[in-house]
Amino acid sequence: MTQTVIIPRPDDWHLHLRDGAMLRAVLPETTRHFARALVMPNLVPPVVTGAQAAAYRDRIRAVLPVGADFTPLMTLYLTEASDADDIARAHADGIITAVKLYPAGATTNSHSGVANFDAVRPVLDRMAEIGLPLCVHGEVTDPAVDIFDREAVFIDRVLDPIRRATPGLRVVMEHITTRNGADYVRSAATGLAATITTHHLIINRNHILAGGIRPHYYCLPVAKREEHRLALVTAATSGDPRFFLGTDSAPHTDANKETACGCAGCFTATNTLSILAQVFEDAGALDRLAAYVAGHGAAFYGVPVNTGTLTLIKGEAVPYPAQIITGEGPVTVFDPMMPLHWRVT
Ligand code: NCD
Ligand code: ZN
Repeated sequence: MTQTVIIPRPDDWHLHLRDGAMLRAVLPETTRHFARALVMPNLVPPVVTGAQAAAYRDRIRAVLPVGADFTPLMTLYLTEASDADDIARAHADGIITAVKLYPAGATTNSHSGVANFDAVRPVLDRMAEIGLPLCVHGEVTDPAVDIFDREAVFIDRVLDPIRRATPGLRVVMEHITTRNGADYVRSAATGLAATITTHHLIINRNHILAGGIRPHYYCLPVAKREEHRLALVTAATSGDPRFFLGTDSAPHTDANKETACGCAGCFTATNTLSILAQVFEDAGALDRLAAYVAGHGAAFYGVPVNTGTLTLIKGEAVPYPAQIITGEGPVTVFDPMMPLHWRVT
């Protein structure tokens, strides 16, 4: 008997589209399946003002594949110099959906991020007032803190103090990678949620480091121990509305990944839904897939569930390209290390 799952068209609540030739090449990989995506602002230079976000949104719209029905939801990159009035105006004008907090130096293109969290308090207070969510890259950058502990330490040292200082602030912990992250989300009554990537449901740190170093599994926050991966699978497949999909699909050329100091990021847009269907099936939670990819995030952000549906059909192994060809060079597609049997139609 053929197994079929029908879901509303999904949303990706954390996506890197880049710009120029890379944007043109990777955008169709997302629009093929997704109706909306929250687009990260870590361009060079970053998207800091409402005007920059509107211009970036227009550049995305200009290269949408013909016939694509896709809405890019824009974010602003928070800096210590961010202007609360400009942010509030961009929100009121419907240009932005969230503001992104990168601790300075935490990840790709985060040099302009925040070092002194007190400096952004007035902006965060304003965001709480107007109901504009803060998306957080939750890692400390203190070189004395082990890279595998940076998420857990961030919760105690930075995130919890921020949330106490600005109680009405709605926060999304982006791409959580630890049991600590999932537990912290569950500890909050309201106003806190988390995205989980596709790749963090598949890989643990052994996949990056054991038996040879595998740069295409290197991303930030870095994958942790197996027990943490299992905690993420439990959270994602639990049906708890505080957890939803943000792929963090982050294209870098193979030349920039396979080098002495390779970039962080896994490119998963192409095969994300086939992988997730397998993860949810293995967890006995196929009936919760729709809510994870198309329901919980929309509810948190206060937007309607997308109209239209996708059908996933289980059958022969689904072919997908090993690489996407871009004007900047090939980008390797995430390898889930298992055949994918769920085809998206
Ligand atoms: C992202 C990127 O390449 O922009 N990289 C990553 O490893 N996830 C940045 C980010 O989200 O941390
Ligand atoms: Zn990201």
